[in-house]
Amino acid sequence: MAKSRVIGSEHIDDARQRGRIVFEVLPGDIVTDLARETAVRLGIKLVDGPLEKPVSPRTDGNTALRRGLLRRSPKWVAPKPSQGRGVRRLGKLALVGAGGVGSNIAHLAANADLADEIVLIDILPGAAAATAMDLNHASGINRTQARCIGGEDLALVSGADVIVVTAGRARGPGMTRADLIDVNTRVIRSTAEVIKTQAPNAIVIVVTNPLDEMTVEMLRATGFPRERVLGMAGTLDSSRFRNALAMAAGVLPADVDAFALGSHGDEMAPITSHARIKGRVLETFLSEEQIAACVKDAISGGGQVVALKKSGSATIAPAHSSIELIDHIRGAKTGPVPVSVMLDGEFGIKNVVLGVPAHLGQNGLVKVEEIKLTDNETGALHAAADAIRNRLGL
Ligand code: 2OP
Repeated sequence: MAKSRVIGSEHIDDARQRGRIVFEVLPGDIVTDLARETAVRLGIKLVDGPLEKPVSPRTDGNTALRRGLLRRSPKWVAPKPSQGRGVRRLGKLALVGAGGVGSNIAHLAANADLADEIVLIDILPGAAAATAMDLNHASGINRTQARCIGGEDLALVSGADVIVVTAGRARGPGMTRADLIDVNTRVIRSTAEVIKTQAPNAIVIVVTNPLDEMTVEMLRATGFPRERVLGMAGTLDSSRFRNALAMAAGVLPADVDAFALGSHGDEMAPITSHARIKGRVLETFLSEEQIAACVKDAISGGGQVVALKKSGSATIAPAHSSIELIDHIRGAKTGPVPVSVMLDGEFGIKNVVLGVPAHLGQNGLVKVEEIKLTDNETGALHAAADAIRNRLGL
């Protein structure tokens, strides 16, 4: 048994100085009145412990989602699929759009050596070829086998297993993602025309904004089944939500299990009912106002980056989030992951693309996981579906 401690105001002062906003009180600890007053004055929450310690600082999004869904403790680690068995190396990964997101995806994919061939395509003359060459130049150091090819011709998607489409205009400061609908619809339609003839069996991951609407356009224009047209948003929005919660609670992002569903826009639905910090409900660590601020931060995260950059939007987190989906497709990760898919009655919603938890596999969507949500959260999903339908004029 640990010796009980007398917690005085100096302990609270010390915790504050170390940037803590939570102080763990263990069974048997005596907390002085002055310490309690100091905690209130400094905004430090006294939380009954012991709090569970994270097992690993490398909690990935899927483990976080599975912990939340399965109500596992932070000590639970998802069984790792054995490398080699069940994990598929892609023959060809094609990236339509070699701007910030496309190039970062190529970089991560090449580094992970997850495909034999990584093709970058961009209308800007030389841009894709330059990035491909640059990546190949690194292979002498990282010793990866993936070969990168770059060019301007969309027909380079030919025979790809997975195609990630990031092409299109990005937001400028003050713009919403929805403001891009007309210009990017044209980009998606012309890309889809080539994909359906050159890579008729590919799984397409749409990243172009507005994400949910553009995924609908890709589905329509390729005529592909819903299993093979996915939108990347939930992995990104969930990561932003986890980061916001971790910062607010003064813990590591690995301590946080949380995910965001709904639209990739103002109608995003960060799910608080399943969210956990160190295995505990959010209210253990955060006030209602703080939780609301984290939800807002997740929703506005992309816009905050745009406002700072002045031209263009986020590139690194969206690239990691795209790789997470590819890892699920090739079996390197398993379990439900937040992804935008065409719904067919799940959550009571039909004929619209929306971010939901789903299982992916080598043929794309395997199954939407219909988790239990609160009435408010279900309402938020339906409101998102209505907003997307409105914007598409459905
Ligand atoms: C974002 O949220 C690019 O839509 C993307 O940053």
